[in-house]
Amino acid sequence: MSLRMPSWSRKTGHFVAVTLLLSSSALLAVSAQAQDVSNDAQVQAGYALSRQHCARCHIINSADRFTGHASTPSFMIMITALRDWPDRFDTFMARNPHPAHIRLEGAEERPDHLPSTITEVMLTLDDLDDILTYVDNLAVELDNPRPE
Ligand code: HEC
Repeated sequence: MSLRMPSWSRKTGHFVAVTLLLSSSALLAVSAQAQDVSNDAQVQAGYALSRQHCARCHIINSADRFTGHASTPSFMIMITALRDWPDRFDTFMARNPHPAHIRLEGAEERPDHLPSTITEVMLTLDDLDDILTYVDNLAVELDNPRPE
């Protein structure tokens, strides 16, 4: 496996850390509101990105039952059936079959052995963060949230 995963920090994690540093409750209330809004926006962006880049193979939402391959596990199945789903989603880029299709912007060049019929998808760290935020939100809806 040639793709090395950078250790990116989740933006929401940073936001919470910063929020906790602010001691005034008024500031806390304002930040919490801002976080809700930015989280919603990220969920929306992550949904759009998942439709664009993952739905070709995975069913990513119960409303999209007619996309995807029957042989590929749906996001909902993975989230409900796999205890370690957060780990698998955090590292999906390095897990097969994804390295052949999806590359992180700025990561190593496209491997020579890839047939030219495979179109690569480029994702940025922000894209990944949005997709993982969408998945986390889906997991909350499915009642199997990412552990704290
Ligand atoms: C070209 C088809 C294809 C695309 C596009 C694709 N996947 Fe997958 N994905 C698969 C297949 C097939 C598997 C099952 C692999 C297996 O069971 O070994 C899988 C498995 C996974 C797994 C579980 C990995 C594991 O090892 O447990 C995750 C998480 C995942 N995909 C997330 C995503 C996300 C997020 C996207 C979009 C950014 C995406 N996939 C795009 C085909 C695809």
